[in-house]
Amino acid sequence: MTTPELDQAYWEGLWSKTLRDHADMVAQRPPNKHLVAELADVPPGLAADAGCGHGADTLWLASHGWKVTSIDFSSTALAQGQFMAEAAGAGLKERITWVESDLAQWVPEEDRYDLIICLYVHMAGSVEEMVKRMARGIAPGGTLFLVGHRPVDPETGAATAAANQVQVSVDAAIAALDPHAWEFVVAEERPRSVAGTGVDAVIRAQRVR
Ligand SMILES: C[S@@+](CC[C@H](N)C(=O)[O-])C[C@H]1O[C@@H](n2cnc3c(N)ncnc32)[C@H](O)[C@@H]1O
Repeated sequence: MTTPELDQAYWEGLWSKTLRDHADMVAQRPPNKHLVAELADVPPGLAADAGCGHGADTLWLASHGWKVTSIDFSSTALAQGQFMAEAAGAGLKERITWVESDLAQWVPEEDRYDLIICLYVHMAGSVEEMVKRMARGIAPGGTLFLVGHRPVDPETGAATAAANQVQVSVDAAIAALDPHAWEFVVAEERPRSVAGTGVDAVIRAQRVR
């Protein structure tokens, strides 16, 4: 089998099929466990969710008082997120701005965000460049939170579902961030928090200056 191109058409097709076949499962998907474990106690501010998909994490952030800009290049995923935010009520939709954009080009306004998250996103170009670009959008004191499904299961050596993708790793994140400006609160591989085999790289970095 050939590896599919992980471009906009691929994700758009995958989201259309997933929402057609498993709409209920998608609507009920909880926020990411690593995110909840790390950020539940962080006071809300301005956040961005880069590669937000249908926005389970965006909705969780908004329900905790964050104002969130949520970026994805799948209009189908964004429409689902918008629908779920409206259905949730409680003023959630007013706290979220959905942006259809390619992360390869997305440049956050410098020093703007208290939090940028990027979870399970295949990075088509250099991972380090992408991490640096997101980091420039974080205000002093703010947090960059990244999770990447590792392509190989360290226990078995078997390929995981992320084998054909390039997601963030602990090493790439450490290489990308200036150690004088960033403190790694967490930078480790943890047991996977959602379906699938292997481990997730979990990076929580705080801008110290
Ligand atoms: C595996 S999903 C993860 C979604 C969400 N972060 C989560 O954890 O549930 C990857 C998402 O990244 C989006 N994506 C991948 N490459 C992208 C790019 N270059 N620009 C914008 N979105 C992208 C896809 O459309 C998809 O919604």
